[in-house]
Amino acid sequence: MCGIFGYVGSNRATPILINGLKALEYRGYDSAGIFVSDCGSVKAVGPVVNLESKIPQGMNGSTGIAHTRWATHGVPSEANAHPHHDKSESIWLVHNGIIENYNELKSEMQAKGINFYSETDTEVLAKLIGTYFDGDLKQAVLSALKQVRGTYGVAVMHDQDASQVVVARMGSPIVIGVGYDGNYISSDPSALLAYTKEVVYLEDGEVAVVTGSACEVESIKGDKIEKTTEIIDWDHTAIQKNGYAHFMLKEIFEAPKVIEDTIRGRVSANGSVKLGGVEAVLPKLKDLERLQIVGCGSAFYAGSVGKYMLKEYANLPVEVELASEYRYTKQIFDKNTALLAVTQSGETADTLASLRLGKEHKVLTLGVVNAVGSTIARETDAGVYNHAGPEIAVASTKAFISQLTVFALLTLLLGKERGVLNEKESRDIAESIVNLPKVLKSVLDESAFIEEVAKKYAKYDNMMLIGRKLHAPIASEGALKIKEVSYIHAEGYAGGELKHGPIALLHDGLPVIALLPQDDVYEKMYSNVEEVKARRAPVLAIANIGDEKIGKLADDVIFTPKTHPILQPIVTSVVLQLLSYYTGVGKGYDVDRPRNLAKSVTVE
Ligand code: M6R
Repeated sequence: MCGIFGYVGSNRATPILINGLKALEYRGYDSAGIFVSDCGSVKAVGPVVNLESKIPQGMNGSTGIAHTRWATHGVPSEANAHPHHDKSESIWLVHNGIIENYNELKSEMQAKGINFYSETDTEVLAKLIGTYFDGDLKQAVLSALKQVRGTYGVAVMHDQDASQVVVARMGSPIVIGVGYDGNYISSDPSALLAYTKEVVYLEDGEVAVVTGSACEVESIKGDKIEKTTEIIDWDHTAIQKNGYAHFMLKEIFEAPKVIEDTIRGRVSANGSVKLGGVEAVLPKLKDLERLQIVGCGSAFYAGSVGKYMLKEYANLPVEVELASEYRYTKQIFDKNTALLAVTQSGETADTLASLRLGKEHKVLTLGVVNAVGSTIARETDAGVYNHAGPEIAVASTKAFISQLTVFALLTLLLGKERGVLNEKESRDIAESIVNLPKVLKSVLDESAFIEEVAKKYAKYDNMMLIGRKLHAPIASEGALKIKEVSYIHAEGYAGGELKHGPIALLHDGLPVIALLPQDDVYEKMYSNVEEVKARRAPVLAIANIGDEKIGKLADDVIFTPKTHPILQPIVTSVVLQLLSYYTGVGKGYDVDRPRNLAKSVTVE
């Protein structure tokens, strides 16, 4: 979704801003623009390279703000692209979020003779700041923000003052990067990595004046706030392709390392497990009577797999809800319920809103979050970081498998604590977790074969995926991945649901991807595959090595190593990720940036 980048310092701002925008490209956008002190503004529809090609010679100012826009109010166009300006064209602003009362504010200003050139809510905020400006930009921003309802991360500057950028945050992230030769502003810490790892996170309701050498923060009410600088522990190479054709492929191939990072220092083969982030609330988790899990998209499916794990191995009643539905449906909160938010970005608006609803009702809130320092990570009472590193491709791959791994760790911990898993069972799970990176390495070694299979199935317009138990949500996640990057219509079903409707779709032109590892529902799944074959639908099975029976029934089989049932979904997921990737690439699509999608959905 929209991205903000800014710079105040002694260097030329333009190349820094363009680099910053390129680092934000992965989030998804449709137009981009910059404003640089003493030079003015340039905007372009389409990729950042379009903007770059329009930058005039001599755009040499040392302070600037930049934006990638993902249209919410008004079509992608130069007029609607940010930065936007006030009536006098001296105050320039970039904005993420939505100003909910923009129509009413616009009408009031129009009645006073102020004209608008765009359809955006952002221009309304720029114009509003202009009406309050009497020489003090921070005060004008504060006065305007008191009038608006909605969410914002904003960066504002005045064309006659290159010494400062004023930033503010309410529901949409703003991070300030502390550099040697200036300070940086971004809506996404990963975009700062090329310049600095020292950051100051702004909280909701905070406003900062950023100069080349300082950053003064205060609350919207005007109280001074002392902030501490934090260090981002991500490596700059994490946001580069490092020789891979796409970020998605690189991130799939990082699987063994990601799992090593997720489990490092947390589990050992003898069955011991330690999750520092939830230690303080462990007594509460031990006696928990109900866990609600919320998430969107892949995070929701990870939570759904987590539900099966926690119910079966920790005897914990779990419900999983789509975060986008959570606050609009009746929720029953009580003191023995905890709410767990699953999110890669830690900024998803619906997940954040669900979390805040839980907090309002005083339930214990937990997070399984990848982005360190993100809003959800900071607002939950306790939680576990994935440590998967920055995920750049829009389609979630490494973050998804690390979410499943965190659920396996949590299940092992709670299964032991709640007296469900005995020593042997704990050791079996722990050993399998420790061995998982090796298992995933051997799956990746089969990528050339998976690419061949992908070519065969890429010709279809529709696909169905089926699985049972932990593999039922994996069928849905696999279908989501196929949709996202290859635009093939795919749906995932629990195998047992076939007869209740979806079987009507089957014919020789609708392939079915059947997920049937050697677990306690193998025979049930096998029967489902027989039902599918009886309707002449082609079957691609993902099964365990040594399963000769399925080899005779299915049209194609991708064999995977067998691991503990709790971890098998991770193995299957990597195969499905590779299948989706090769299908999308084979069809010539930009798999890193699928159409209409944004990496982090920070508006409702
Ligand atoms: O950052 P989050 O994990 O909260 O994001 C949730 C979804 O938007 C995300 O998983 C989305 O479905 C991905 N594009 C899936 O590949």
